Amino acid sequence: MLRRWGAGALNRTAPLPLFRPKNVLRLPRALAVRNASTASSSNAFESFLNSRVTLVSVSLFTAGSVAWYTHLYGSLPFLPQVHASLDSDEGLHPPAYPWSHMGLFDTFDHASIRRGYQVYREVCAACHSLDRIAWRNLVGVSHNVDEVKAMAEEVEYQDGPNDEGEMFTRTGKLADYMPPPYANEEAARAGNAGALPPDLSLIVKARHGGADYVFSLLTGYVDPPAGVEVREGMNYNPFFPGGAIGMARVLFDGLVEFEDGTPATTSQMAKDVVTFLHWAAEPEHDERKKNGIKAVILFSVLTLASLYVKRFKWTPIKNRKIFYDPPADKTH
Ligand code: HEC
Repeated sequence: MLRRWGAGALNRTAPLPLFRPKNVLRLPRALAVRNASTASSSNAFESFLNSRVTLVSVSLFTAGSVAWYTHLYGSLPFLPQVHASLDSDEGLHPPAYPWSHMGLFDTFDHASIRRGYQVYREVCAACHSLDRIAWRNLVGVSHNVDEVKAMAEEVEYQDGPNDEGEMFTRTGKLADYMPPPYANEEAARAGNAGALPPDLSLIVKARHGGADYVFSLLTGYVDPPAGVEVREGMNYNPFFPGGAIGMARVLFDGLVEFEDGTPATTSQMAKDVVTFLHWAAEPEHDERKKNGIKAVILFSVLTLASLYVKRFKWTPIKNRKIFYDPPADKTH
């Protein structure tokens, strides 16, 4: 139980050392010493430091040094190192798209994840692996368990060794990871004119611009501008750093047929596959936001409660009055 202290309770406690008569008597002398020290010759220095002329000249000196350094070297020290690459290497900056899961309270659009998986499976999986996603991860996210089991069983996995020490193949099960399109990196490069299609599990986190970048990349293929030469086997995409990318445009209107009847335009497929890849990179996304909101609510309540309790406990201490009551002089 909380109990309010009576203000009188403090009067009965022993006086704090500062208010002992001895100290009180010494106070004026201490003050005089302090005043004397501040009034010494350091005054002139202080007024120089505080003067406007000093302020203006130091500012002008700083601005002048910065301008002179920039004039000599083209940029300020250390600033260029903040960029990972040169300006000429950077692709066109992607616009910020209004993803349906971007808000503080928004979860992924799971119908979109399901369509996106279809786009990945039918288009991207021909070249890109998705190493970190197992079939079981799709359960309850985009498909139900029977659908995922059926999809896994369509794939053959190598397993073993068996009792005779031989490797054997079996159909896939929920615990298996997504099958890679190529056996190894060399095979992947050989199939793509030397370029390596990166694993897509974490691509949304791994690229500057995230989902906006991957969407822009997929929908951003155009003819190279006049004067730009693109090597044989490369394609021009202004969003790709450097402009020339080994991957050709892969999404075209009507390439897949969505089972829910959504028209499969290029941008629709790109949006769905990017939502799917975003989920693959951050499968904890929905849960994380839910827990985050719970934590914010809980900690706000606890903060308010502790503020109240603090004020409650401190009230008598803040409101007390301490005074010095000199002992009555018995000689008079
Ligand atoms: C024909 C094979 C092929 C297909 C199909 C394909 N890609 Fe690629 N992809 C590549 C290659 C090769 C690269 C590497 C390009 C490079 O480094 O120049 C690449 C690179 C990428 C990159 C990385 C770009 C970067 O910034 O490094 C992303 C993202 C990507 N692909 C997404 C996709 C998506 C999504 C799909 C399906 C809609 C897809 N790709 C389909 C071959 C393919």
